[in-house]
Amino acid sequence: VDTPVMGQLRVRINGVLGIDRSSGRIIGVAEKAELLPAELVSAWTGQSVDSKAIETIQLTADQFLMPGLIDTHTHAPQFSFLGIGHDLPLMDWLNKYTFKHESEFKDANLARKFYKDVIKRVVRNGVTFAAYYGTIHFDSNCVLADIIREIGQRAYVGKVCMDANSPAYYSESTEASLRDTEEFVKKVLGSQAEEANKQQSRLVTPIITPRFAPSCTHECMAGLGALAEKYQLPIQSHLCENPSEIEYAKSCFPDSPSYAHIYHQRGLLNSRTIMAHCVHMSDAEIALMRETKASVSHCPNSNLSLSSGIADIRRFIAEGIPVGLGTDVGGGYTPSILDAMRMAAVSNRALIAFRRDSGVQSAPGSKDTPLEAAEALYLATQGGARVMTMDEHLGSLDANKLFDALVVDMSTPNSPVPSIEATPAVRDAACPIEAWKMRIEQFVFLADDRNISRVYVGGKLIHTS
Ligand code: GUN
Ligand code: FE
Repeated sequence: VDTPVMGQLRVRINGVLGIDRSSGRIIGVAEKAELLPAELVSAWTGQSVDSKAIETIQLTADQFLMPGLIDTHTHAPQFSFLGIGHDLPLMDWLNKYTFKHESEFKDANLARKFYKDVIKRVVRNGVTFAAYYGTIHFDSNCVLADIIREIGQRAYVGKVCMDANSPAYYSESTEASLRDTEEFVKKVLGSQAEEANKQQSRLVTPIITPRFAPSCTHECMAGLGALAEKYQLPIQSHLCENPSEIEYAKSCFPDSPSYAHIYHQRGLLNSRTIMAHCVHMSDAEIALMRETKASVSHCPNSNLSLSSGIADIRRFIAEGIPVGLGTDVGGGYTPSILDAMRMAAVSNRALIAFRRDSGVQSAPGSKDTPLEAAEALYLATQGGARVMTMDEHLGSLDANKLFDALVVDMSTPNSPVPSIEATPAVRDAACPIEAWKMRIEQFVFLADDRNISRVYVGGKLIHTS
């Protein structure tokens, strides 16, 4: 099951997929299992193979294979206050909980213990690739990158930069911010070179991370823009999350025509940039995102939990801006991208209902149609891959893509998804493809980590439930 384009659910019933263990890539996919495995491998690779060299895994009738889930925005240290303080608006929440708890990662020993559980938890939820914020601390960020590599998840890891308007106990000098960022980049890229020698696909990549415009000086952001250019790195930050935050950002940079322009003027808005939230965007800001080919990380749980608002993702998509899903833990209360899918669907419907009831027209180019389960699945997989600029390598089950994938089991013990027998709509469906479509809707709306039975990254099994 996959979604190579938005709106298309591709189900290959009785399909067969081949993986090359040494490269971790998909070598081919067949719609029906009519040939023997060795014959299929020969057809895909043009080489004859010894059937003894092939290991086969058979799925049950209620299991399926799908691309791994991609979390385009989350904060590893914020698992330390998960589910707490969501009644506060963004700026108060940052000042009361976030900075205080992140500052504790000054202690790298704490990071070692804590981050291990965090990454295991994220992987258990089926996330094969995540863009993480760490903290401002060099040592703890290195620990985070090491743990991710040990566990085998794919990730972007960012050393958070904060050299302005931040509490004394959790801030850094401009010089330290830029120096530690470059050191972190070199260290992670160095470890990556070792990985390459082992012929594995790259797992951890550094990402340039100004926390958000108000917590950085002009010099810091301009320096980060230069580093992103020098090392051709991805960039992540927060944009237009909450009205007070937007006013605050503009007051810090009165010469910028908009919040988005603050980043753009400092070399931080380009095709490798992921901007989280984008809830309250002006037309000019949307145009700037489109022109610079920057991407949006849609974080519906966080946007609802912190009363930030509802992002109009239909409009971004209509404008051709790539959109993926983010959990934004701890603004969001769960690391589950399955939850992000349903929150994306439900918050989109809330926006439609609000507009209908208040007589507000949808924006030009946007349409007020409910986001379907298959569209949510696209945003969580191929859409996320596009946001992370890895769409050539990830996001669907196609030949040559890296095998970052999940085996989903819809009938595990205590499954939150009812059995087929208990779901007459599925049991009595007109044809198998109709039954699968409904089963996938149930997956999107009901499943959780109990249904994620195996997690693969780069062809390697990294989690079994
Ligand atoms: N803006 C600046 N920092 C943060 C953060 O940690 N979380 C969220 N949701 N927004 C932010
Ligand atoms: Fe965030």
